[in-house]
Amino acid sequence: MATPQKTTTDLQEQAKRHLWMHFSRMGSYDQGADIPVIVKGEGCHVWDEQGNRYFDGLSALFCVNIGHGRADVAMAGAKQAEELGFFTNWSYAHPRSIELATRIAGLAPGDLNRVFFTNSGSEAVETALKLARQFHKLTGNPNKTKVIARDIAYHGTTMGALAATGITALRAPFEPFMPGGCHVPNTNQYRLKPGYGPEMLADSVEERILFEGPETVAAVIMEPVQNAGGCFTPPEGYFQRIREICDQYGVLMISDEVICSWGRLGEWFGAQRYGYQPDMITTAKGITSAYAPLGAVIASDEVFAPFVEEHATFMHGLTFGGHPIACAVSLANIDVMEHEGVIDNVRENEGAFRAMLDSLRDIPVVGDVRGAGYFHAIELVKDQDTKESFDDDESEWLLREFLSGELFRGGLICRADDRGDPVIQLSPPLIAGPEHFDEIEGILRPVLEEASRRIG
Ligand SMILES: Cc1ncc(COP(=O)(O)O)c(C=O)c1O
Repeated sequence: MATPQKTTTDLQEQAKRHLWMHFSRMGSYDQGADIPVIVKGEGCHVWDEQGNRYFDGLSALFCVNIGHGRADVAMAGAKQAEELGFFTNWSYAHPRSIELATRIAGLAPGDLNRVFFTNSGSEAVETALKLARQFHKLTGNPNKTKVIARDIAYHGTTMGALAATGITALRAPFEPFMPGGCHVPNTNQYRLKPGYGPEMLADSVEERILFEGPETVAAVIMEPVQNAGGCFTPPEGYFQRIREICDQYGVLMISDEVICSWGRLGEWFGAQRYGYQPDMITTAKGITSAYAPLGAVIASDEVFAPFVEEHATFMHGLTFGGHPIACAVSLANIDVMEHEGVIDNVRENEGAFRAMLDSLRDIPVVGDVRGAGYFHAIELVKDQDTKESFDDDESEWLLREFLSGELFRGGLICRADDRGDPVIQLSPPLIAGPEHFDEIEGILRPVLEEASRRIG
């Protein structure tokens, strides 16, 4: 195992003094812990300031889909800057946003033909929620304002998106929110309640619509595979039933694909993997493989229709949404995906990725392995037979004090998360292959075995 040396470089000192990191316990850095400073990336690997190399098993944050170090993709942005550094999509348009919208419409399922650009996933979700509300107002249903999402789902951090996010710890410091955020069970099939079959999960959405009153519900928002909680996949027929329910009650179906698009599940869009047709897709992250910030809402012709009548206007905009440099980078990213068979690579190798993770099931702490494509989680348990989970203190020790540090020191970046039950998540760059899965296993296995020994 490579052991990073402790240094107090200028970057460390300046980071500790001035940088406010996201979702981070800054106090732990005051008490002496070093901030991991990543300085270089190439392919599936990154390096820290001390020169230690890591396998990036999370594609940074589920986003560097084509891998690190693609200067050619970034150069597309630089070339664009020479021609037109910036113009807005607010009352004007520019060639790259038009070309990218057209390209996205060609890849998205069915009649999802209209693309509204944002700068991030949260802004995409925020935009989709506002779009749903205004759509219903324009079509004679002004009281349709509520949104149904799933327990423990993460849909972003802006105040509207947070109303859909179903993670209490993320919501509590900021309440009250936009009213109307409602939650239903997620598709955690490892921990179904007794007497509750997977075929009943979609029906909980209908029950909730009826409870709230169908005339008050604007939209349902769901990820194809739910990230928070640990890569919950849908049971057979789940999304088809959600589509039926949405149609029956005049509710818009939003597929939040901030993570699950751009090849993550082996298709351009997650909805294509599970064969359903949403009214809107929200996306970001892999849209540029993170070489520039960009997000989008892709809306159906039907959702767009009331906005072309008379003087109707979607009363929403963002100065930088669809920035020409980000759009040029996104077009180059899609070129790479098409010309280098990036999505084919996921299809060809997801079985080997899954088999490697399944091979860890002999380790006592491994309870469940689940996910799809290059997006998987390992749920950690105290007892494989009873599925007994860890209490808060045990989880704190296991994830934060032991696993995160040991895996990182061993050379693996992944996510140890307890927003639901404790999980380790892996979401490697889509260019990874079997030799990389061996590398992941070589680091993961001894650390999980040691965790089992210490718990046992
Ligand atoms: C499903 C989903 N929606 C929305 C977001 C928010 O995206 P961003 O962090 O780009 O604002 C995320 C971020 O991880 C996400 O996973």
